[in-house]
Amino acid sequence: TFREEVKHILEPFQLTDEQLRRVMANLNTEMTNGLRSDDEREKNDLAMFPTYVHHGPSGQEIGEYLVVDLGGSNFRVSHVNIEGRNRIRLNNKIFLIPHSLLLGEGDKLFDYIAECLQRFIDDNKLALHKPADYKFDLAFTFSFPCNQTSLRQARLVSWTKGFSCTGVVGNDVVLLLQQAIDRHKGLNIQVVALVNDTVGTLMACSSIYRDCKVGVILGTGYNACYFENVDNVPKWKGVRDQSRKQIVINTEWGALGKHGCLDFIRTSVDRELDESSSTPNQQVFEKMISALYLGEIVRLIIVDLVQRSILLPGRMQKTPSLRSDYNIFLILRGSFYAKHVADIESDNTEDLSVTSSILTSIGIHDPSYDDCYLIREVCRTVSLRAAKLAAAAIAVLVNRLNQPSVTVGIDGTLFRHHEKFKKNLARTLSRLVPRTHRLVLSEDGSSKGSALVAAVDRRMRETGF
Ligand code: BG6
Ligand code: GLC
Repeated sequence: TFREEVKHILEPFQLTDEQLRRVMANLNTEMTNGLRSDDEREKNDLAMFPTYVHHGPSGQEIGEYLVVDLGGSNFRVSHVNIEGRNRIRLNNKIFLIPHSLLLGEGDKLFDYIAECLQRFIDDNKLALHKPADYKFDLAFTFSFPCNQTSLRQARLVSWTKGFSCTGVVGNDVVLLLQQAIDRHKGLNIQVVALVNDTVGTLMACSSIYRDCKVGVILGTGYNACYFENVDNVPKWKGVRDQSRKQIVINTEWGALGKHGCLDFIRTSVDRELDESSSTPNQQVFEKMISALYLGEIVRLIIVDLVQRSILLPGRMQKTPSLRSDYNIFLILRGSFYAKHVADIESDNTEDLSVTSSILTSIGIHDPSYDDCYLIREVCRTVSLRAAKLAAAAIAVLVNRLNQPSVTVGIDGTLFRHHEKFKKNLARTLSRLVPRTHRLVLSEDGSSKGSALVAAVDRRMRETGF
């Protein structure tokens, strides 16, 4: 029967705990290797970037910051006032970035950011009661792999998540933003810190939970950072002293699998998605998990099922017109979203009406009950696999930390809005690590956290501790 055929096709997506433990072992090895050296000849999967953040907030920080947050599903500008322990006020605005800017010249993107800053300052009258020479400090949440040589020097190693502006890779993004700001007469801002979104999330969450040592983003991309002992980072070339015993490492674990260590679980669909992406063989792990890719994995499986006449039988022949919505869905990469996966997998209506109306909205008209049922199976399988893999990675960090209890601060659409994903994540994690742990949503974490990074740095420089 159709249901059995689908079961068979979905089998490679079903991961056993044994497979997950092998992923954990491979990830753990790659982490250790990444901490050891940056030498390209070593063929390490993970960058394991030292971030120059050594301390969580002490609660003594105060200050006013602007934050620019680029790299998630929204581009945001925020005004953050840190007024002491657990007292952080945030006012922010989302600006749309025209898609063309993400693919065009880098300078144009940074000029646009400067314009948004100007609009934000004007709209909120932030400069109104300030002295004429007042300079705002700005923390830049930039959610891409950067090789940092200080808190305010960061070379972009490669774009991820579909961004691909020219003239940025290999350059210092703090400088690029500062130059754009300085080109924009009337803006009095200095960029004081560059912060990955995972690091912001960690900082915000660790200001509330003392045992929070891990920050995770489960959204458009998938990544994590954590506090590591400097002694465990042989490649660290910065200061080693009593006051800097720990350092936050940005793992960039989405890159796992670059040299084949995930081949034992990759399916033909994963390979197809990877090969047709703008970054083949990069972010292999991320492409199995994060929101940017989940919908596309499901779409590719559906297309396969349609071609085998298991799904929507007879439809291919009936609607041959290239312009019909239905064919657009079949042909167009990225036309099925993680949000669709989430909504369909949690469709518990008796007649699967939620699934049916989503399918109709994307051009698959009048799907049968069987079509809906099978598509829900596909969504559930793909989403469960992603949650299990995400959990395996977090499990590695929880184990590495070797603390009696660990709080993991998490942000991102997958964790925030995808209930089933979140449940599967927590359930798998509990199976994989016996250690006490909890997963906590870090609301607005990246923006607040980036301001905290800048504030901790200021406190350290001003008071020395
Ligand atoms: C937001 C953070 O809340 O979450 C961003 O401010 C982060 O910095 C984002 O990148 C991740 O989630 P998503 O789903 O928007 O990619
Ligand atoms: C991608 C980026 C990484 C970021 C993550 C979540 O993996 O490379 O820097 O933290 O997405 O946004």
